[in-house]
Amino acid sequence: MPRLLENKHIVIGVSGSIACHKAVDLASKLTQEGALIDVVMTPESTHFVGPTAFQSITHRPVATNLFNPLSTTSMEHIALAQRADAILVAPATANTIAKLALGLSDDMLSSTVLASSAPVIVCPAMDGHMYQNAATQENIKKLEATGKTMAGPRKGHLASGMTGPGRMLEVSEIIGYLKLALGRSGDLSGRKILITAGCTREAIDPVRFISNHSSGKMGYAIAEAARDRGANTTIIAGPNSLPEPVGVVVTKIVTAKEMLEATVEKIRNSDVLIMAAAVADWSPSTFSSQKLKKGSAYWELKLKKTTDILTQVRNEQVIKVGFAAESENLFENATTKLKNKNLDLIAANDITAEGSGFESDTNRVFIIDSSGIVDDLGTLVKYEVGWHILSRVSKLLS
Ligand code: CTP
Repeated sequence: MPRLLENKHIVIGVSGSIACHKAVDLASKLTQEGALIDVVMTPESTHFVGPTAFQSITHRPVATNLFNPLSTTSMEHIALAQRADAILVAPATANTIAKLALGLSDDMLSSTVLASSAPVIVCPAMDGHMYQNAATQENIKKLEATGKTMAGPRKGHLASGMTGPGRMLEVSEIIGYLKLALGRSGDLSGRKILITAGCTREAIDPVRFISNHSSGKMGYAIAEAARDRGANTTIIAGPNSLPEPVGVVVTKIVTAKEMLEATVEKIRNSDVLIMAAAVADWSPSTFSSQKLKKGSAYWELKLKKTTDILTQVRNEQVIKVGFAAESENLFENATTKLKNKNLDLIAANDITAEGSGFESDTNRVFIIDSSGIVDDLGTLVKYEVGWHILSRVSKLLS
């Protein structure tokens, strides 16, 4: 599994909010992904969570005091600031945001941010009135103007009892922002990658449709891997309930026709098209605007073929990757699709194999290229499958 965060020095700056408990989870998840986490706490934040909580998770000292007599370096904030690959200010209170906007340096957190040239991601957490206050909004604009990334907040129930903007993002989203920042210099930096994902739905009447089992997980996992390698990533997705990956543009469509239109529109501005979607091959030949009644015991539904998207864009000058989900004759069927659809690569998978298939988090995939060479990836989590496909794409691009 590619470990983007392995041995990366990440500073988590924690300021005083009830969302401090989420920062403990954040430190834990990042440590599990191999990052070296230095936690810097404002004095106020220690009222919510003790430094010991962070220390026992990160196995590293926690800095709470600008003047620490036990410190091995005389200028601890400078040392932390300079070795940081990224700084997450999570949670960021209105007070800490104001200090960062003004460039104050009267505690470990603000001093570390001021002394660092690493990317800074600020995750606000506060009462909705404090967030909406013109002074806070002005400070946020200043932070953005100096290149800091504002991640959140989200609307929802707040500790003050109010419902509104002020909830810190979930840990998975904050990690998405971090990977987006760290991946910017990756091998796909500046490349535009278009990925289709999931199923399409073809309506029969206002309540019924035909579709398939595709969950969209494969396409979304490729998109996350592309983002983590610096690509400018867009997904065109059919209906699904997956969270939108941070830093990826998601266009939602419903029908095969809409997926075709969106792909034709966006491919002009892309370097790569990866068709991971299970596009419906047939659509009802007529749509009934009224709900069809049960009527007789048998009913014949007439279908017409949809347009094959890859065939439609076969002459576009982009790298094209298709998928072949087969239940028999895997290599023969996949190779025929690769040739007929003028693809650079095809990811072939046997949907009947263990650890494969639509809802699964893993996939058993073979990558076949235009010269017929087969690369057996084995059974991997879908993110890793995506990573391998992108490594092949990266080679073709260079
Ligand atoms: N595909 C497409 N447009 C369609 C149907 C499929 O672009 N209308 C793409 C898929 O996204 C996939 C590739 O073509 O990348 C192969 O799709 P698949 O469903 O395996 O094959 P089909 O070409 O539809 O042929 P069949 O259903 O007969 O296997």
